[in-house]
Parts: sequence; C-alpha cells; structure tokens
Amino acid sequence: MGLSPMKELLLEAQKGRYAVGAFNCNNMEIVQAIVAAADIEKSPVIIQASQGAIKYAGIDYITGLTKLAAESVKVPVALHLDHGTSFEQCIDCIRSGFSSVMIDGSKHNLEDNIALTLRVIEIARLFGVSVEGELGKIGGTEDDIVVSEREAFFTDPIDAERFCSETGVDALAVAIGTAHGLYKGVPKLDFDRLKEIKKRVSTPLVLHGSSGVPGEAIREAISHGVAKVNIDTNIREAFTEAARKVVIENPKEIDPRKMLGPAREAAIEVIREKIRIFGSNGKA
Ligand code: G3H
Ligand code: ZN
Repeated sequence: MGLSPMKELLLEAQKGRYAVGAFNCNNMEIVQAIVAAADIEKSPVIIQASQGAIKYAGIDYITGLTKLAAESVKVPVALHLDHGTSFEQCIDCIRSGFSSVMIDGSKHNLEDNIALTLRVIEIARLFGVSVEGELGKIGGTEDDIVVSEREAFFTDPIDAERFCSETGVDALAVAIGTAHGLYKGVPKLDFDRLKEIKKRVSTPLVLHGSSGVPGEAIREAISHGVAKVNIDTNIREAFTEAARKVVIENPKEIDPRKMLGPAREAAIEVIREKIRIFGSNGKA
C-alpha cells in the first residue's frame, strides 16, 4: 500500500472513537518496528519524523524507508513531519513525498500562527497532503525543541475555535498538561480544558508528549476528541535498553545486527502495547 493521507485516518478514528498512534522514527529499525507492530495489530499507523530524525537520516531517506515499509503491509501508513519549524521545511517534506506535515507555529502570536499555517495549507492542499497545527505551547524537550515549564502555556479554547475555523487545519495539537520527554512524576491532564476545546472544535485533536502518560488518562483524552497520540520517548527507551543489554551481556559482540535486532523486537512490543491502549487495533 502507498502512503495514506493522515486526514482520512484521523476522521475514521474520530468516528470510531479511537486514536491513531503517531510513532517517531529514529532509524531504519524503528521504521520497520512501527510498521510490523501495526501489521500484527491490524491498525492504521502514522510514522513521524522529528527535527532530530531529519538531521540524522535526511528527509529523502526517511521517505524512501517509509514508502518501502508501507508497501510491505496492507494496513494504512501515513508519513508525517513532526513539529515542522518553517514553511520551507514543510514544502521540502511535501516535495519528498510525505503525506502529512505539522507546522508548529506555537512560538508565534495567534494571528501569525494562523497566517503561517494557512500558507502551508494552501500548498499542502494542492498535493492532497494533510496539515497539523499547534496552539498553546507543549513543554519539555524533543531533539532541538526545548520549552521550559515557564514558557509552556495551555491552549485557550476560544483561540482554538478561531484557529480551526480560520485555517481549516486537519488536526490540532493541544497543550493540556503533557510534556515531551521523561516525566518526573505522573502528568496531570487538564480534561476540563480539553472538553471545552472539543465543544468548540470538530477538528481531530492531537496529544503530544504522550510517553509516560498512564493508559487510563490517554483513553480519557481519546473520549474527549483526541484522535492522534504521539509517542517517541517510550520507543527510544525500549530500543536503547534492549541494545544496551546485549552490549552489557556480550561486551565482545561486534555485530551491530546482534544489538539492533533485539532492539527492534523491543520497539515492536512497546508499539503494539500503545496501539492497544489507543484502541486502533483491528481497525485496519
Ligand atoms: O512530537 C512528538 C511527541 O509529542 C512525542 O513525545 O517523546 O514525550 O512521547 P514523547
Ligand atoms: Zn510533540
């Protein structure tokens, strides 16, 4: 199967009251793990590339790997740019064959964020590419994007209504208390805010920083309009722990495949678990 537009996957999820997992890829093994997990669970899936992944692998490698992976399975696979930093980067990804892009205009004021998101949407529409926008500022660290607790702010439901109606964006990332990276304690999500946003906006909502958020809270967020759940850190953890275990147990091992093979297996397991929490298993 070729790459699917993310918009279609999210509208189906909204109807079915589940969420599609958007899993960050860091290398070939993780791309393979994401697709293998989705295939086993018969789930639609989104592979996303962060700024760090793009720097590490290059846009065209990511597109090439994902296209091959998607062609090897029957489940729908979307390829998404995560936290796109500029109009130009979104265009580069569209040109390369991504089926979806995120333009993260959260550092701008509302008017400028709307204007930037609209510029991306105008081009993306011509190619049938979906667009995710962000309103509010999600805290924590993801690759080069660092937002301190002081800088982070939650999404205003009234702004969300204006943002969605003026841009017609396909998905909206909301800040309701999650953060990128490892949590120190258990995150507390602002469900009242999420309910208020859902009342005003019919756009599928996106939960970022979802690694480490308890399954119950994720399910509750899904019941209040979240249709895309982003996971990166938990995959990195599982992958690296498995590779580290091989190195510690066999310090003389020199075959990278002996480290990366078990790491890929560990990533498959964690992704399968997340897919079942999101309820997208059996939906493809
Ligand atoms: O955009 C990517 C995600 O929001 C991942 O967050 O690393 O905390 O799972 P996470
Ligand atoms: Zn994120």
